[in-house]
Amino acid sequence: MNNNFIKKNYLEKIKKIQKYNELYYVKSKPAISDQKYDVLKKEVLDLENKFPFLRNNKSPSVSVGYKPSKNFTKVKHKVPMLSLGNAFDEQDLINFEKKILNFLSLENSNSIEYSAEPKIDGISASLIYVNGSFIRGLSRGDGIEGEDITENLKTINDIPNLIKTKNFPEEIDIRGEVFIENNDFKKINEKFANPRNAASGSLRQKDPNITNKIPLRFIAYTHGHAKGMKIKSQTDFLKNLKSWGFKTNLFSKKICGVKNLMLNHKNLEEKRKEIPFDIDGIVYKINNFDLQKRLGFAANAPRWAIAHKFSANSSISEIKNIEIQIGRTGALTPVAKIKPVNIGGVMVSNATLHNEDEIARKDIRIGDTVTVERAGDVIPHVVSVDLKKRNQNSKKFIFPTNCPSCGKKTVKDYNVITKKEDAVRRCISEGYECKKIAIEKIKHFVSKDAFNIDGLGKKIIQNFWDLRLIKLPQDIFDLNFGAIEKLDGWGKLSASNLKFSIEEKKKISLERFIYSLGIRHIGQENAKIIAKHLKNSANFFRLSKNKDIKNLLNIDGIGEVQINSIKNFFLNKKNLEVLTELNKRLSILSIVPLNKNGLLQNKTFMLTGKLNGISRAEAKSLIEKNSGKIISNVNKKLDYLIIGEKPTVKKVNIAKDLNIKILNQQTWMAMLNKTG
Ligand code: IVH
Repeated sequence: MNNNFIKKNYLEKIKKIQKYNELYYVKSKPAISDQKYDVLKKEVLDLENKFPFLRNNKSPSVSVGYKPSKNFTKVKHKVPMLSLGNAFDEQDLINFEKKILNFLSLENSNSIEYSAEPKIDGISASLIYVNGSFIRGLSRGDGIEGEDITENLKTINDIPNLIKTKNFPEEIDIRGEVFIENNDFKKINEKFANPRNAASGSLRQKDPNITNKIPLRFIAYTHGHAKGMKIKSQTDFLKNLKSWGFKTNLFSKKICGVKNLMLNHKNLEEKRKEIPFDIDGIVYKINNFDLQKRLGFAANAPRWAIAHKFSANSSISEIKNIEIQIGRTGALTPVAKIKPVNIGGVMVSNATLHNEDEIARKDIRIGDTVTVERAGDVIPHVVSVDLKKRNQNSKKFIFPTNCPSCGKKTVKDYNVITKKEDAVRRCISEGYECKKIAIEKIKHFVSKDAFNIDGLGKKIIQNFWDLRLIKLPQDIFDLNFGAIEKLDGWGKLSASNLKFSIEEKKKISLERFIYSLGIRHIGQENAKIIAKHLKNSANFFRLSKNKDIKNLLNIDGIGEVQINSIKNFFLNKKNLEVLTELNKRLSILSIVPLNKNGLLQNKTFMLTGKLNGISRAEAKSLIEKNSGKIISNVNKKLDYLIIGEKPTVKKVNIAKDLNIKILNQQTWMAMLNKTG
C-alpha cells in the first residue's frame, strides 16, 4: 500500500466520523450503533499509531465530541472496585442482617453498627496517593481494570494534590464519587439526559481542558489498597477523610438496627429534593473494619455492604404490545412495548411484566394505560393498570403455552423449598436445541464475567448469529475473519483486532469457564466454589460420568437444586459435544491456591459439630486463608478433625480408629495463633 492510498482511506474514515458526530451530538439523531462507531474510531486511531504522519487535527484523538473515549491506558486496581447488592424494602434489610449474623455466628443484631451514607448517583473513581502525593487516578472500568484518567481528575478542585497531615497513610487508594451538582447541570447546555451522564462524559474526555470547563465535584467514601492505615471503623475513616482535606457526605450517620435504618431512609428520601446533587439511595456498611474483613466478599460485591434504593420515578404510558422474551435458562419473560416516555431523564420504551402470574394478577392487557416505574439501573416495570381508561373491547392476554422460538412445550417448575409452582414458565428444551436459548447462552458465554472478549458484545454476537457465523460457543474460536473483514462496518484492522482478543481469551480460569457454560443455578459464586473444589478441568469433565457429581454436595453452598441442575446439564448430549469441542480449543487453567505458605500448609481438616462464635462458612474460609485444605470425609488423608458442640459421634469414632488428631475449637484456634 502506498502512502497516498493509506491517507485517502484514513481521511474517508475521519469524514465519516465527523458526519456521525454531527448527527449524534448536534442533531441528536445517531446514524449508527455505538459499537460500529467505536470500531470505526478504533480503526482511525490504529492507523494513526501505525502511520503517525497521518495525524490530523480533525482526528477523534484531537477533537472530541461528547462521546466517551476508549483511548485511556488501562491499569489494574490493586484492590478490585466492586459493586453493591441492592435492597428495596425492610425485608431485604432483615435478610441482609440475618446473613451477616449467621456468617459471623452472632445472635444479637444490636451488636451490628452501620455507617449509613447517601448513595450519590455519579461515577466512581480511585485516587492513588503515595507519600501524600496524588500520583494517579483511575475510573472503575470493569472493576478489575480501570482507565487512567489522572489528568481529568486533576481538574477537580475537591481532589487534593498533596496531603501533608501526619496520619495520612503511606500508600492509599482513596475512592469516591465524581458528580455534577444539579444547579451546575442546568447551566451546561449540552445534550445530556441527566447529571450522571454529563459527569461521565466529561470525566472521560480525552482532553482535560474540556473536563476543566465542567464543574465536577468529588466526595470520598472508601478506600482500596492501603498501607500504614490504623483506622478501625468506617465512621472514623470518614472523619479522617475530612481532616485530610477531602469532602465527605454531610448526611452520613452511624446507625444500629433495621428499624432505625428504615427511619433514616424515610427522612432522607423526604430531604432528597433539598440536597444539591442526585442521590439514589443509601449505602449501609458494617462499621467495624475487623468485621468487614471477616465477612469478606462474595462474587461481585462485599458481604458487609448493601445499597438501599429510594423508590422509583414513574410515568404513565400505554402498552402497544406484549412480547415474550426467552432467556438463556429458557424462562419466558413478558415485556411490554410501551409508547416511549421520559422517566426521570431517561426515555423508556420497554417495561418488564416479570412473568405469567404477574400479568394474571394485575390483569395487564395490550392497549392498557399503565404506570411504569424505574429505579436507578433497575429494569423499568409496570406497576399498575388504570382500569378506567381500559377499552371495552380489550381481551385478556393469553400467555403462550408453547415456546415462541422452538415450539416445544413450556412448563412451570415445582419449587421444593417453597412447595409451590414457580411463577416463571420455561421452555422444556435443554438448551442449544432452542434457537432463542442458544443465542442467549452464547451471549452469556462471552459476557463480562465469563469469557469477556473485547469487541464481542451482545450486538455483534446477534449479528454473527444472524449471518450464521456462530451457532455454538466453540464457533467463536473458529471464526472466519476473512468473511468478517468484508462485513459492513468491519475491515481488516477491526477483524484482526477481534481475532487477537479471541486468541487472548483462549486461556481461561476454571471458575470463569464453569460460569460461562450458563448452567442453571450455577452463578459466579457457585462456579467459584465448585472450581475451588475440583481444582482442574479434568475433574470437571469427569462430572459428565455422573458418578462424582454427588461429591459436590459436600461443598458448603451447593445443595440438591444445584446438583440436579449439573446432572441435567451433563445428561444433555449437545452440552457434552460443546464441552468436548471447547476443550479442544481452550486451555483451562487449574486453580492455584492463593497462599501456599500459611500456618496450616499441607494440612487437611474436617469440621463436625457447632463451633462457638464462628460460623461453619467462616471457619472454612479461615482454614483456606491459612493454606489448609478442607476435606469432606474422615479417611486416612485427614490430618485433623475439629470438633465443636454435639459432633457426629460416628465421625469422631472413625477418626479415633484411624489415629487422626482430634482438635477442639481452642486447640485449633491456637494453631492459627488466635484465641477462641
Ligand atoms: S462503597 C465495595 N459508598 O455505588 C464498596 N459506594 O453500586 C462499594 N456509591 O460503584 C463502594 N455512594 O459508585 C460506596 N457512600 C458510598 C457510595 C457508593 C455512591 C456508588 C459507587 C459504587 C456504587 C455501588
